[in-house]
Amino acid sequence: MLVKTDNNLSGLKRRIDLSQPQQNTADGTVSPIIDKFHRSLLALRISVTDRCNHRCPYCMPKESFSKSYSFIPYEEYLSFEEIATLARAFVSLGVVKIRLTGGEPLLRPRISELIRMLKEIDGLEDLALTTNGSLLAKHAAELKSAGLNRLTVSLDSVDPNIFKTMSGGAGDLNDIFTGITEAEKAGFNQIKINAIAQKGLNPDDILNLVRQFKGTNHILRFIEYMDAGNCNGWRKENVLSSEEILKLINQTFPLKRLNPNYPGEVARRYQFIDGNGEIGLISSITQPFCQDCTRMRLSADGKLYNCLFAENGLDIKKALRQNSSKEDFISAIVNLWKDREDRYSQLRNELQALNKVPQKIEMFAIGG
Ligand code: GTP
Ligand code: 5AD
Ligand code: SF4
Ligand code: SF4
Repeated sequence: MLVKTDNNLSGLKRRIDLSQPQQNTADGTVSPIIDKFHRSLLALRISVTDRCNHRCPYCMPKESFSKSYSFIPYEEYLSFEEIATLARAFVSLGVVKIRLTGGEPLLRPRISELIRMLKEIDGLEDLALTTNGSLLAKHAAELKSAGLNRLTVSLDSVDPNIFKTMSGGAGDLNDIFTGITEAEKAGFNQIKINAIAQKGLNPDDILNLVRQFKGTNHILRFIEYMDAGNCNGWRKENVLSSEEILKLINQTFPLKRLNPNYPGEVARRYQFIDGNGEIGLISSITQPFCQDCTRMRLSADGKLYNCLFAENGLDIKKALRQNSSKEDFISAIVNLWKDREDRYSQLRNELQALNKVPQKIEMFAIGG
């Protein structure tokens, strides 16, 4: 029997029997739904808006996303009640972890109300949010008091000029630092700091980023530049591999490998040998992690996606708004996951060689 101990992030000690179909067990836990490659549905990433006040060239290059771009019309957004209904359904199916994303999630008015609603869901173990940090100073205290467990801040450089370029001229580095400080004051710790690493753009900046966060209790993670969406002009030659980053950091700040916090953790963890904290490397290009991918994604307009690089989503909003029974939309979710064969990162090279890369959903619409 294949038994996995899931996630220890928030004290979760649930044992999941992957050989059993989804069911409520005698001890009250839920056996998760399994896809075609035996991956459990354990996490949901909810995008609450596709809009953003930054224009990072790897995500929303400003040339393509001017004021005339048609973002999702507000009336198409799922309401907080609809999101909470879906979240409850997912938790009843075994999801233990929810992450709110965007675009920029703090642009969605009254986001803390949604957090409060999600926190009430029995069985949800972990509620996190990924932000670009620009509006964090204003929102940190209310996010904490609403019950948000964890924060991730995207920050590509601590050099004001490089940061400006990496945010498409739209961001101010001081706002992000103030946001992080306010988040610390509000009681968030071990904030994850996500930095995209690209050749030619910011490799020299890597050590300064490390210096900035080493010895704080925050966790800096470098993400390999991905071919997300259809408009960032991605080229493999521009990917700075985790291996190269590791080598660079290790020369100045020796590191040793740490075990994952939970099976399927996206980042590989490394600890500074001097004991002053850890960093993470997310290597979707050079070391794909599809075999452990436990995440479904919900877009702001109510479509469910099985993969960050998916072409199409299932319109679950339609089912919700047509007053389908709870059983109906739950079985739509179950079937979507059960039929899942997505593993884009593992197939990337093959698809590119055959010139068969699909038209993908954009990263800002599905939340990274
Ligand atoms: P933790 O719960 O703290 O472990 O967070 P996480 O790493 O799951 O979430 P986060 O939003 O911080 O993810 C960091 C980045 O990793 C994302 O912005 C994506 O760039 C990338 N990433 C996360 N999940 C996936 C995934 O399923 N596939 C791929 N290819 N990349 C992912
Ligand atoms: N490659 C890798 N990561 C990306 N993100 C956005 N676009 C890309 C890309 N092309 C990340 C951001 C942020 C999260 C929402 O997604 O850095 O951390
Ligand atoms: Fe906005 Fe994040 Fe995309 Fe940058 S990566 S444009 S901050 S959604
Ligand atoms: Fe999961 Fe798709 Fe990312 Fe693979 S490429 S880890 S299947 S989201």
